[in-house]
Amino acid sequence: MAPMVVNLILGWWLVAVSRAQKLPRPSLSLHPSQGASLGDNVTLRCHLPQPAAWVRLYRYQNPTYIEQKDNVQDMAEFSLTSIKQEDAVIYQCQYQGLAPAGTSQKSDPMELLVTDHRYPPPGISLSPKEHVEMGSNITIQCWNKDYGASFLLHKGGHSAPIQHQEPDYWGTATFTLFGVTPADSGTYRCSYRIGGCCLLFSPLGDNVTLEVIPRPAPPGVNGGPSRNLVAAVAGGCAAAIVIITVSFLLVALRRQMQRAERPGATPRSPEAVQFQVSPGDSEGLTYAQLQAVTPSTHPPTSSTTPEPPIIYAEVGTRGPR
Ligand SMILES: *[C@@H]1O[C@H](CO)[C@@H](O)[C@H](O)[C@H]1NC(C)=O
Ligand SMILES: *[C@@H]1O[C@H](CO)[C@@H](O)[C@H](O)[C@H]1NC(C)=O
Ligand SMILES: *[C@@H]1O[C@H](CO)[C@@H](O)[C@H](O)[C@H]1NC(C)=O
Repeated sequence: MAPMVVNLILGWWLVAVSRAQKLPRPSLSLHPSQGASLGDNVTLRCHLPQPAAWVRLYRYQNPTYIEQKDNVQDMAEFSLTSIKQEDAVIYQCQYQGLAPAGTSQKSDPMELLVTDHRYPPPGISLSPKEHVEMGSNITIQCWNKDYGASFLLHKGGHSAPIQHQEPDYWGTATFTLFGVTPADSGTYRCSYRIGGCCLLFSPLGDNVTLEVIPRPAPPGVNGGPSRNLVAAVAGGCAAAIVIITVSFLLVALRRQMQRAERPGATPRSPEAVQFQVSPGDSEGLTYAQLQAVTPSTHPPTSSTTPEPPIIYAEVGTRGPR
C-alpha cells in the first residue's frame, strides 16, 4: 500500500512541476526604446501571456528582486527615475500565474544601455573612400585614447549596434565590411563602452557615409540599357509574329476540318489554301498546305514528293466515284 501512495504523490508532484515549467515566459521592453542617458526617467514593461498574482523585476543573476507588482492582468510597469550609473545593467522579469498556477521562467535578459555625456565621443574614419564599387572591402576605424574599453559600430536605421570590437594598444578599433553591397550604404557612427561596473557608453561620435555603387555590366556582353530595350522590343515583336502566325494556321486548319465534315461544301474563302493533287493520285486525297504564305510556287505535281519545310495534312477523302 505504501509504495502506491508514494507513487501517487510522486506522480502528482511531477505533474505539478511540469505544469509550473510550462508557464510561458513574459517579455520585458524598454520605453523610450532608443536608449537613455544618465538622469533620464525610463519605464520597463513586463508583458504577460496570462493574469498573474505578482510580477517581479530582477537584476540579471541577482536572486533578490528589485520591485514587485501584485494582481496584474497583462502588463506591469516599473519606473526608474533619474537613472544612475548602477541602473545601467541587465534586467529580467518573472510572474506567478493564477490559473494555471506556478511560477514562470524569467524573461529574456534586457540591457539598459545608458549614455554618459561627461565622456567625449570617439573619432571615426572610413577607408579607402566613401563611394566604392560593390564587392570592395571597407574599414571603419574608431578611437579614443583614454577611455575606450570596447567599441560599438552603429548604422543609421538600426536601433542596436551592428558590430563591436576591442581596441588595440593605441585605443583604436577597426571594423571591416567585407565585399560590400548596396545594402551596406548608409551612415555609420561609433560609441565606446566606459570601463567599470555597468552598461555605460560614450555619446555617439560623428557620422561617416558609405555609398556602394552597383557594379556596371561587363562591356561587350550587352551594351547597356538602350540596347537592352531594343532587344526587349525585338523579342516582343518576334513573339507576337509567332503567335499571329500560329493563330492563322489554326484558323485555316479549323476551316478545312469544318469543310471536311460537310462533304458537299466547296472552298470559298480565298485565304483557305487548298488545291487538288494531280488526277493520277490513286487515293484521290485532298491536301491542305499548312503554310500561311500563298500561292505555292511549286507545280501541283511536285506536291506528291513534298519538300521538308512544307507540311501537309490529310483532311478528308473524295474518292473518284
Ligand atoms: C523624472 O520623474 C520625476 C518624478 O516623477 C520628475 O520630477 C522629473 O522631472 C522627471 N525627469 C525627467 C527628465 O523627465
Ligand atoms: C577582401 O578581403 C578578403 C579577405 O581578406 C580578400 O580575400 C579579398 O580579396 C578582399 N577583396 C578585395 C576586393 O580587396
Ligand atoms: C552626418 O554628419 C553631418 C555633419 O556632421 C550632418 O550634417 C548630417 O546630418 C549627418 N547625417 C546623419 C544621417 O546623421
